[in-house]
Amino acid sequence: MTGKPIIQAFFDEPTNTISYLVADPATGHAAVIDPVLDYEHSAGEVDTRSVETILKAAADAGFTIVWTLETHAHADHLSGSPYIKAKTGAKIGIGEHIKDVQRIFRPVFNADDLKTDGSDFDHLFADGESFRIGELEARVLYTPGHTPADITYLIEGTGFVGDTLFMPDYGTARADFPGGDAHALFRSIKKLMTLPPDTRLFMCHDYKAPGRDQYAWETTVAEQRATNVHVKEGVAEDDFVAMRTARDAKLSTPRLLLPAVQVNIRAGRFPPADANGVRYLTIPVKLKGGAEAGA
Ligand SMILES: [Fe+2]
Repeated sequence: MTGKPIIQAFFDEPTNTISYLVADPATGHAAVIDPVLDYEHSAGEVDTRSVETILKAAADAGFTIVWTLETHAHADHLSGSPYIKAKTGAKIGIGEHIKDVQRIFRPVFNADDLKTDGSDFDHLFADGESFRIGELEARVLYTPGHTPADITYLIEGTGFVGDTLFMPDYGTARADFPGGDAHALFRSIKKLMTLPPDTRLFMCHDYKAPGRDQYAWETTVAEQRATNVHVKEGVAEDDFVAMRTARDAKLSTPRLLLPAVQVNIRAGRFPPADANGVRYLTIPVKLKGGAEAGA
């Protein structure tokens, strides 16, 4: 351990996402984790207010943002990482299995321009890989399940878990997206549970749990082990998978899934503009019932 990171959280209520600014007090070097681009789906409008808030916080503190880190390709918000990169020169990092997610979704969107080698990102992290944010030591744990590419960033021993865990009173994230796997999710969570009990864990989302009226995003390994309503100690893998599968079957498709995924697998960039100079998102249409006959 070289020092304690300075951690600032930024909550985006429209998408229930928590982004983080994590800085090294010694050098002022910092990383942003899971930044959100403001996207108004009904109007097709994109804005950078949320990212500007993080950039301003970093500027006010005299931090230099050197990384913008994604825990996975999100299905609920569009990534603000390209804007952070454009403004600061920070490198965009994600887990190396993003290539699998790109391969899965390229045909879904018929995205001929989409590279499936991860090269739209600046760095692909492998399981166990170490890197630095200034003098802070960071390490990557591969924690698939919610998607095939999820990673957890351990920065000086503090975990940024993405959607591998939610707060103990809310449980876990869905595992039914293409390439998701409830068995893998359970094993990834168990991997996190082997970290020291006092390890601080920061969530990527919070929706409040029944009986809780405040948003929350910080917990510990000990709290997760003792009280997580889905995966506390003693819950067997098969029971978790049965619960998760039944629950996922009842969940509706996230509102921003299709826009978010096609942007986020391009490292947060939009598809190239058409000849008229306008960028369009693609919505694949499934014709059900008698709809095919009328199409
Ligand atoms: Fe997610």
